[in-house]
Amino acid sequence: MKTVRTVAALRAAVQQWREARSSVALVPTMGALHAAHAALVDDARTRADHVVASIFVNPRQFGDDEDLAEYPRTEEADLRQLREGGVELVFAPPVDEMYPDGAATSVVVTGPAEGLCGAARPGHFVGVATVVTKLFLQCLPDVAVFGEKDYQQLKVIERMARDLDIPVEVVGVPTVREVDGLACSSRNGYLDPDERASAPALYRELQTAARRITDGSDVLAAVTDASQAILRAGFQEVEYVELRRADTLDPALVRKGTPARLLAAAQLGTTRLIDNVGLIF
Ligand code: PAF
Repeated sequence: MKTVRTVAALRAAVQQWREARSSVALVPTMGALHAAHAALVDDARTRADHVVASIFVNPRQFGDDEDLAEYPRTEEADLRQLREGGVELVFAPPVDEMYPDGAATSVVVTGPAEGLCGAARPGHFVGVATVVTKLFLQCLPDVAVFGEKDYQQLKVIERMARDLDIPVEVVGVPTVREVDGLACSSRNGYLDPDERASAPALYRELQTAARRITDGSDVLAAVTDASQAILRAGFQEVEYVELRRADTLDPALVRKGTPARLLAAAQLGTTRLIDNVGLIF
């Protein structure tokens, strides 16, 4: 496995594969890798001849009051995991390689980026869409894989690639969970033991609400009860529990009998957790 830190070196390595008519899958990450990233790499390996992973803690997707400085940086362990997973090339650029002095361009997605985490984290999806556009154009992969835990992010990236005619297939991989249901996340490491014990309530209450909605319960009653149960479990604040259309995230167009997604974000101590479940409305 080779690690490169410049766009030129990434392009040169990928170009050799493209000239040999081999296909390339990209797994974009911010490092601090765990089991869910291993699942992304496993999935990517089934979809292309070669797998490239990127490790870049993207400052543009963190708000001023967010955890950019504390975000875990574990490059040595990350490289070991990627090598064991069969990744052949790692792109781990420094910040000034991605955003040289004078960088003045951003990618703004509306539609699926509006509301949910887009409301609570202004600028977050601009940062995500900008860095992922750059990674796509730097690597030119045939396929790129993302976790469904960040379901809104997945939908934003799908729409961005479609709208900008970037010829990449964007694939979502089901959320990997701990045995008690908590979605794997690099931020789970911030939880103290009491918070860690409360954390699975987010997924548990989403599942309960999804079951009730599928069985015909009133959506407002189901999401209100879910929010209250999440608070009772020890969370300090529920930012949102919302039902959206699964494909576009359009809130107004959830129709009976069609795939929907129930998404939530809640604050547990100083940690913000998100999760989502699919259902047929
Ligand atoms: O999901 C992530 O880790 C990041 O948001 C991504 C897609 C790598 C962009 O920085």
